[in-house]
Amino acid sequence: MTISIPSKHGTALITGASSGIGRAYAERLAKRGYDLVLVARREQVLKEIARGIEAEYPIKAKVLVADLSTSAGISAVAEHISASERLSMIVNNAGVSALTPLTDTRDEAITEMINLNITAVTVLSKAALGKFKHQGSGTIINIGSGAGFSSFPDIPLYTATKAFVYLLTRNLQGEVAGTDVRVQLVVPGAVKSEGWDRAVSAGLTSVPKEVIMSTEDCVDASLSGLDQGEMVTAPSLEDASVLQDYEAAASRLVQSMFNGMPATRYSVAKLP
Ligand SMILES: NC(=O)c1ccc[n+]([C@@H]2O[C@H](COP(=O)([O-])OP(=O)(O)OC[C@H]3O[C@@H](n4cnc5c(N)ncnc54)[C@H](OP(=O)(O)O)[C@@H]3O)[C@@H](O)[C@H]2O)c1
Repeated sequence: MTISIPSKHGTALITGASSGIGRAYAERLAKRGYDLVLVARREQVLKEIARGIEAEYPIKAKVLVADLSTSAGISAVAEHISASERLSMIVNNAGVSALTPLTDTRDEAITEMINLNITAVTVLSKAALGKFKHQGSGTIINIGSGAGFSSFPDIPLYTATKAFVYLLTRNLQGEVAGTDVRVQLVVPGAVKSEGWDRAVSAGLTSVPKEVIMSTEDCVDASLSGLDQGEMVTAPSLEDASVLQDYEAAASRLVQSMFNGMPATRYSVAKLP
């Protein structure tokens, strides 16, 4: 009889663990000694990944099949998070993109993307935050995107969902300030994954090779950022001051907007 000893690191739940960045998180977190809960829709793929990881590392990997674009799937995973006794980390990674103008995007695809990229991330963050605040520790990693920082008219919906993830995650960091609960935002650039093939028929062939990162490098840099205590980790951003300048400019912009007076360039006449 084999006795399974739970990992001292606890369990990490990873959404979208059946491919790409999520799969790389599964391997790297297993290497760090976490037990795993792997979430996605493709059960067989998840089971194969779980078997492979258990064969390589002394950890337990469970599979949780859920469609996170549906209310039922989101609720099932949120309930699992709330009920799990040893959960110490969640990685909100599952996400889809569609590189199409809004008028060329099917209504069902719009709903699916908003449910997965926004609602699931929000509801699962809420479930994990409640649990981690209660237990006094835990880590939430939300995967945003460099594409969430600016407008890209060819990818209108995806970039907007990732802008949401950016602000949500930055706001949650305020909620846990001064506690041992960690919330990290990861904003990758272009990363080689199946996601590109699903989002655009040309896949990554439409992107210059030199700007594409491997999933392993992306996750290694992100976990290094986590170890260093970073709030926002941009794996491929060489000059971190660019991000600091962006956030400082955003903060100045907001502060300058709340002053009760129409700007002089609008020449709004004053009532006598
Ligand atoms: N690749 C990039 O260049 C890049 C850049 C910046 C940010 N990101 C972000 O990184 C994250 C991972 O992307 P990736 O490139 O690694 O994509 P990927 O290879 O396509 O992986 C997406 C994962 O999400 C799962 N998923 C998709 N729809 C789902 C649903 N309805 N319910 C549950 N799981 C679902 C997929 O599994 P199933 O199909 O088995 O459900 C898969 O495991 C995404 O949030 C993406 O926006 C990617």
